[in-house]
Amino acid sequence: MITNRAISWQAKVRWFCLGLLFTGLTSCKYQVDGNQTKLQYMPDMATSPVARSQREYLDPPEGSISHDAILYPKTAEEAETLLINPFAGRWDEDTQKANGARLFGVYCAVCHGQDLKGHGTVQDKFPPPPDLASDLNKNRKDGFFFHRITYGTAVMPSYGHATSPHERWQIILHVRDLQKASANGSK
Ligand code: HEC
Repeated sequence: MITNRAISWQAKVRWFCLGLLFTGLTSCKYQVDGNQTKLQYMPDMATSPVARSQREYLDPPEGSISHDAILYPKTAEEAETLLINPFAGRWDEDTQKANGARLFGVYCAVCHGQDLKGHGTVQDKFPPPPDLASDLNKNRKDGFFFHRITYGTAVMPSYGHATSPHERWQIILHVRDLQKASANGSK
C-alpha cells in the first residue's frame, strides 16, 4: 500500500519557523569591537594596512633612524676613537676657530683659564680643573674633548645644552691652538 507522504502546509510553516529561529540564535553575536566588520561583501580595500589620519600611525621600519638624529658614543674613550672634528683642516678653519675662541671665553675660561692651566676667575670657589695643556690632554683626540664638553663629568658641568655640536667642534679647534701655544704643558 502506498501511503501519501506529501507534507502538509502546516508542517512546512513549522519547519520554516524553526529554521528562522535557529538562524537567528546562531548568526547574531554580540560585537565587542564596534569598528570590526563581521561579514564583508566584496571587501575591496577595507582591510588594507592604511593608517587613519589623526588616529593611528605606521611604525617606522625596524632599525631606521630619524633624519636629524645625533648619535653620541657612550664614553669619552669611545668618542675618542669614533668622532672626528669635521672642521679641522677645512678651508674655513680660521673662521671656525675665531668663533671657538669667543665661545671658549664665554663657557670655559672661567674655570680653565685663558691659558688652559686652570686658573680661571672662579678658581677659589671651585675644585681646580686639570691642566688642559698637559701632555696627556695634548695627546687626547678631539672626540674625547667633544664628549667632555657635551656631558661634563661629576665635577665639570656639561655644556651640551648650551652649545651646538658645531660650536663644540669650534671650541676644540681653539683649545688645540692654546695647547700649541703652551710651551711646557706637563703637569
Ligand atoms: C665650572 C668650571 C668648569 C667649566 C665652566 C668648564 N670646565 Fe672643564 N673641567 C672642570 C673640572 C673641575 C674638570 C675635572 C673634572 C673631573 O676630573 O671629573 C674639567 C675637565 C675637563 C676636561 C677633561 C680634562 C682631563 O684631564 O680629564 C676637558 C677636556 C674640559 N674640562 C674641557 C672644558 C671645556 C672645553 C669647557 C668649555 C666648554 C669646560 N671644560 C668648562 C671645570 C670646568
